[in-house]
Amino acid sequence: MSEKNIYPVPDHFQQAWMTDEKYQSLYRYSLEKPEEFWSCKAEHYINWFRPWNSVYEGDFSKGEVSWFRGGQLNVSVNCIDRHLEKRADQTAILWEGDTQDEQKSYTYQQLHDEVCKLANALKQLGVNRGDRVCIYMPMIPEAAFAMLACARIGAVHAVVFGGFSPNSLQDRILDCDCQMVITADEGIRGGRVIPLKANVDEALQCCPDVHSVLVVKYSGSDINWVEGRDHWYQSLTATQPADCEPEIMDAEDPLFILYTSGSTGKPKGVQHTTAGYILYTTVTFHYVFDYREGEVYWCAADVGWITGHSYMVYGPLSNGATTLMYAGLPFWPDASRIWDIVDRHQVNIAYTAPTAIRALMAKGNAYVDKSSRSSLRLLGTVGEPINPEAWQWYYKVVGNSRCPVVDTWWQTETGGIMITPLPGANALKPGSATRPFLGIRPDLLDDDGNKIVGPGEGNLVISGSWPSQIRTLYGDHQRMLDTYFNRFPGYYCTGDGARRDEDGYYWITGRVDDVLSVSGHRLGTAEVENALVLHQAVAEAAVVSIPDPVKGEAIYAFVTPMDDAEPSTELESELIKLTASEIGPIAKPKRIQWTKALPKTRSGKIMRRILRKIARGDTDNLGDTTTLADPSVINHLIEHSAYCQ
Ligand code: WT7
Repeated sequence: MSEKNIYPVPDHFQQAWMTDEKYQSLYRYSLEKPEEFWSCKAEHYINWFRPWNSVYEGDFSKGEVSWFRGGQLNVSVNCIDRHLEKRADQTAILWEGDTQDEQKSYTYQQLHDEVCKLANALKQLGVNRGDRVCIYMPMIPEAAFAMLACARIGAVHAVVFGGFSPNSLQDRILDCDCQMVITADEGIRGGRVIPLKANVDEALQCCPDVHSVLVVKYSGSDINWVEGRDHWYQSLTATQPADCEPEIMDAEDPLFILYTSGSTGKPKGVQHTTAGYILYTTVTFHYVFDYREGEVYWCAADVGWITGHSYMVYGPLSNGATTLMYAGLPFWPDASRIWDIVDRHQVNIAYTAPTAIRALMAKGNAYVDKSSRSSLRLLGTVGEPINPEAWQWYYKVVGNSRCPVVDTWWQTETGGIMITPLPGANALKPGSATRPFLGIRPDLLDDDGNKIVGPGEGNLVISGSWPSQIRTLYGDHQRMLDTYFNRFPGYYCTGDGARRDEDGYYWITGRVDDVLSVSGHRLGTAEVENALVLHQAVAEAAVVSIPDPVKGEAIYAFVTPMDDAEPSTELESELIKLTASEIGPIAKPKRIQWTKALPKTRSGKIMRRILRKIARGDTDNLGDTTTLADPSVINHLIEHSAYCQ
């Protein structure tokens, strides 16, 4: 790494409470005495009804871990009630709608009242402690109220991204057996209507256990109504008391389930529990974003993803921060919207994804230059590796070379940020997530499981537990073991590859499994393939990723039509539509290549490694093709690839 690509800690961060020396010594201590370290954090950062008996117990290699056994607490109390004494009138949630004239804000007192009313309404609808509640909402404050109301009464929420199709929604509702859905009549994003309630109606055609649907009136359009099942959110909450006794939860009671893509078609219901999750998100939010009293923090993620859970709702609110929520799109009505929001709301800390940064960068600097952005103090990114050009644009143009960029690596399964700079402590290298957070011990292993010492590249794994570690995949603990713990016994396997440089900095190189990352959103190759083969004209399909200048990765699909089907542009657009309706618009292939056959091993396994190279035009060295059942398939594929036309 050349010197000119190292960005030292900016002057005004030199006085930050975290310095390199402090980080080094705290880090050493956190690994040497993890229980002491975490119990000290748990006392300082979290309010408990009853203290714990043991900090950590379990068998990490079996994925059986428990943190703060015996402790009792409630997450909504930590995010709301405990702040009321000091900051009842401080803004908790600042909301901007799709258009600039829609603004709302809620103080901590108002947040308390809204959450309690909704919690009471949920109880009235028969939701009990431990029940699963599906939340399928636009980016409106009620989405956060819904999560916190579930936490208040001990119900387990399963938020499903509002961009997912009725089918995907149905799969998730059935998988975790939700009995109640909270939604809105319609979402509105970038002026476009998203028919949420209609999608729910369609999804529920095969979900007999759902007894109630609570609908926020948001767009105000006419919607279909099922008497007895559907209830208006506003009318049901209006009459409820603004107080609701919080449920006393055990440390290891589940808090939520969030679905994410794996390498098979079936989405995985990642389950997080109460104490470990709220402790880890609270502490990381405080350290990584260096949050200071009174600041406005903006995480641009959707509530449907883990980032929206940990760093838009739980982490910030638990720290008593002001968190901004934006319902619209980065380019709506034009590419200056984001910077305009930063100025109008005097945002101090902004956290977004590389894909958004690249798209904004592509529009040119004029949109940024129109704004002052003088309130900004810290910038963050998450979701995929950030390319150095985009990093530098973010740092220099957006942050005027004043604001450190925290490139945070983590996953739905890790619950919170795992590898990240701490502002003030680290010199930054564009494209590197830098160093592990306190208490986190990353390791690199070669494919045979040997540990790589010093600089090198390999499979990124984590040694030892941390409080917000995934506890199980809902209803399928064996799958969780197979996915995360059996590949390299004794380690948590992240599924990512990484390089460690001579300074001990980590550089994430991307997924090593069959998972795609489109605009930072995970999709399993099998999910997209399963959607494509639903079409009667399709015999077989295989999808791989290709680099995309804005989205990071785009989908390239190889499709073998049925013998009696003719490939055509109409068929192509039908397939693209099918992926959108089956999964969601993010699953649309950028490119479809018709094939006569797919390269397979003799045991019938599709060799995606080869397809990935063909899709990328990298055909000089296809690697070992001797295991192919029919090597002649390859030439046909190369001749018809996007690069040979
Ligand atoms: C995967 C996890 C964590 C919230 C958003 C995505 C990739 C995430 C980074 C980063 C390089 C990153 C990894 C990871 N990823 N952050 N800073 N640098 N890659 O959550 O959907 O669970 O996806 O996103 O590949 O495994 P997720």
